[in-house]
Amino acid sequence: MMPDPLQQPARIQADMVIRNIGQLVTVAQHPVPGASGPLQVIDKAAVALHDGVIVWLGRDDENEPMFQHDAGNAVGEIATIDAQGMVVTPGLVDSHTHLVFAGDRSEEFHLRRQGVSYGALLAQGRGILTTMQATRGADTQTLTKLATGRLHTMRNHGTTTVEVKTGYGLDKVTEQTCLRIINNLNAMETSPSYEYSRVRVVPTFLGAHSVPPEYRDKRDAYVDLVIEEMLPSFVGLARFCDVFCEREAFSPDESRRILTRAKELGYLLKIHADQLSASGGAKLAAELGATSADHLDFASDADLDDMREAGVVATLLPGCSYTLRDPYPPARRLLERGLLVALATDFNPGTSYCENMQLMLGLAMSAMGMSLEEALTAATINGARALALHEMTGSIEVGKRGELAFWSIADYHEIGYHFGVNLVHSVFIAS
Ligand code: NIG
Ligand code: FE
Repeated sequence: MMPDPLQQPARIQADMVIRNIGQLVTVAQHPVPGASGPLQVIDKAAVALHDGVIVWLGRDDENEPMFQHDAGNAVGEIATIDAQGMVVTPGLVDSHTHLVFAGDRSEEFHLRRQGVSYGALLAQGRGILTTMQATRGADTQTLTKLATGRLHTMRNHGTTTVEVKTGYGLDKVTEQTCLRIINNLNAMETSPSYEYSRVRVVPTFLGAHSVPPEYRDKRDAYVDLVIEEMLPSFVGLARFCDVFCEREAFSPDESRRILTRAKELGYLLKIHADQLSASGGAKLAAELGATSADHLDFASDADLDDMREAGVVATLLPGCSYTLRDPYPPARRLLERGLLVALATDFNPGTSYCENMQLMLGLAMSAMGMSLEEALTAATINGARALALHEMTGSIEVGKRGELAFWSIADYHEIGYHFGVNLVHSVFIAS
């Protein structure tokens, strides 16, 4: 006799189940049954996926639903991954990096130990322009190899989504080459050891990073070049347009001109804002509806309030403060004013030569007074917001992509506390 369909237990379509998770730190934005605390943690958990999308999460016990994998008319296999009791969080989202460059600036790093400031080096035509020379002189293969190696290091430390900026070409050909390299990282990045590990790479055009030497005495012409030639040519190659709005780089008026045109062309906007001085970047980010404003060390309360009202994510980059021996960004002030705070590495050869988001989590807690909950939120879902990808990634919830970090720790409270070593065992990124 056929069983009564109404008596059948509910079956969920899934092609993969991750079992035996010690703690599943979901960072969910909607209530999850069986989860507790602000990060919505589930002990002894499992996650089921179908076509790379999370379809179920909950306790790994006898009460979990039945999974079924219909592959056409046949019954498909359901792959199982054993998490071996590890802690699982959303993959870390590094929403601000300058990954593509050649050369290094160790000489400047050590000069700064002797008291020479970052701003002074920039004003002397060193800093960003030193890296520009090395980058212009490198071929595509070399730049790709360097970027790929850095991406592997990021992934090995738990990053599953990374934003990558141009900004060391500063001419149309080299900026375009760098954008192509960044786009190719998406296609070519594969893990030597893990089947499901393609980091999501988000390209950003930062032609307005510095005025190149050939335009030193005609900076307006460089701004025109960015607006009239580079921006229209790079539509489709970059999701974001960013500008370094700073005394030594681009004024608020120049930044406004560039970003306004970028917005018309369909780019989303970011600004390097108020990093070295009160540059007006945060205010401009609010005015133009940028997705994020980054750094914000010198932003005023009024500008921060404008940012909050405009829904601009505040991205903090403690690696710069660490390297430049500057005060840390005012995270508590921002959180108390109700801003959405993200954390990122700002990986670059001048101010933050570090691929490791775990160190940013540690600095956020130890040097900036953020709680574990605030810091982990900033390094996952708020990083995804800073990339306008929060519908897709940044938390472990039904409907999101399976992008997870596996931590070889017994309890997630070790994050930030146990620092300077790599606590991440591996990442899982659904293909
Ligand atoms: O985010 N401030 C501008 N850009 C980078 C530094 C780039 C460099 O020094 O090469 C930053 O800190
Ligand atoms: Fe930066």
